[in-house]
Amino acid sequence: MNWDAAAAEKGGYDSFMEKEINDQPDAVGQTLLGRSDIKGNLVLDELRIDESILRSVDKIVVLACGTSAYAGQVAKYAIEHWCRIPTEVELSHEFRYRDPIVNEKTLVVAISQSGETMDTLMAVRYAREQGAKVVAICNTNGSTIPRESDAVLYTHAGPEIAVASTKAFLAQITAAYLLGLYLAQLRGNKYRDEINAVMADLAEIPAKIQTVLDNADKIKQLGTEMSQAKSVLFLGRHVGFPVAMEGALKLKELAYIHAEGFAAGELKHGPIALIEEGQPVVVVMPSSSARDSLHAKVVSNVQEIRARGAVTIVIAEEGDTSVEAYSEHVFYVPATPTLLAPLLTTVPLQIFALALASAKGYDVDQPRNLAKSVTVE
Ligand code: G6P
Repeated sequence: MNWDAAAAEKGGYDSFMEKEINDQPDAVGQTLLGRSDIKGNLVLDELRIDESILRSVDKIVVLACGTSAYAGQVAKYAIEHWCRIPTEVELSHEFRYRDPIVNEKTLVVAISQSGETMDTLMAVRYAREQGAKVVAICNTNGSTIPRESDAVLYTHAGPEIAVASTKAFLAQITAAYLLGLYLAQLRGNKYRDEINAVMADLAEIPAKIQTVLDNADKIKQLGTEMSQAKSVLFLGRHVGFPVAMEGALKLKELAYIHAEGFAAGELKHGPIALIEEGQPVVVVMPSSSARDSLHAKVVSNVQEIRARGAVTIVIAEEGDTSVEAYSEHVFYVPATPTLLAPLLTTVPLQIFALALASAKGYDVDQPRNLAKSVTVE
C-alpha cells in the first residue's frame, strides 16, 4: 500500500464519511494525474493488454456490486458514446448464473473499491475462463481482484474507511472515463483534440466539486430538517439515472429509510402511483445545455409530481431556472458537459444522506448490518 497512516485519520471532521466527501476534489484530481504524454496522447501505463486485443474488442461488460455498479452504469453512457462499443453493466453476482455470452473479444471491466469483493472476484474468474480479458478499476493496491485481472487502472482516492462509498465512486467514474477515452483514442473513434477537450473538462472537475462542497450548507440543513422522512424517491434521466440510484442507496445505507431511484422516464409506467401529498422526491436534472428534449422531459416530470403533491428537491445546473417555479428546494452545481455531470450532481446527494443520518443520531461510518468489504458470496 502507498497510503500513510495520517491519511487514514479523520482530519478534523466528525466522521470518516464527512472527510471522504470532502476529499473528493483530490480523489478525482489524483486519479487524473499523469495520464498524458508530452504529445498530448492519453497513456494508461497500468493497462498492459496488447493494443491489438483492445482494438478487436467487440463488447464491454462492466462487473461490480453496490456503489461500484452505479459507477459502471454511469460509465456505460460515456464509453458507448465515445467508443461505439456495446457496453453492458451487470451485478457480479447475477453475471455468472445466466450463461453470459463472453469470449476473447469481450473486455470485462471489474470495478471494486476494495478489490476483495468475493462476488466480483468470482465473476472475474469466470470471465477469464471464458477467454475474456479483464481490466480492474480498483482503489486498493495489490488486492485480489487486480492481481487476478489482466490489467488494472488504479483509482487514487486514498483510503476509504466509511462503509458507504463516496470518494471511491467519483474516482471510479473518473477512471472508467479515462479507459473510455483511451479506447476511443486507440481505436480511432475520437481525434486527439476531441480527447484533449474532454480531458480539459475533466481537469476542471476537482475545483467544481470544491464549489459544491463550499456551498453545502443549504443541503445539509435540508437533510437535518428531513430526519423524520419515512421514504424519499429519487429521479434521474440518462447519466442522472444511476446518480439517482446512488443517492437512494446512500439514504438506505446511512439513514435506514426507504429510498428508491427511478429513471424519470419510467415515472408514468408505475412509480408515479407512489406520489402522494408530502412525498419527498429528489430530481437530478440533466444539464440544460444537453439535448433539449432530455432537459424538457425532466422539467415535465417535476411538474407532474409536483401537481400530485410531491415535495420536490431539485439538483440543477447553475443558471437553470426552468424548475424553480415547481420546486420546494433547488440546489445548484456548476455547469459541466452532460457526461461529466455525475461527478458533481452526486455530491449534494451524499451530503443530504450524511446530514439526514447524522440528525437521526446514527453512526454514519459503520451503518448496521453492512461491511466495507464483502468477502463471502
Ligand atoms: C459493500 C459496501 C459498498 C460497496 C460494495 C462493493 O457492499 O458496503 O459500499 O459499494 O461492497 O464494494 P467494492 O469494494 O467491490 O467496490
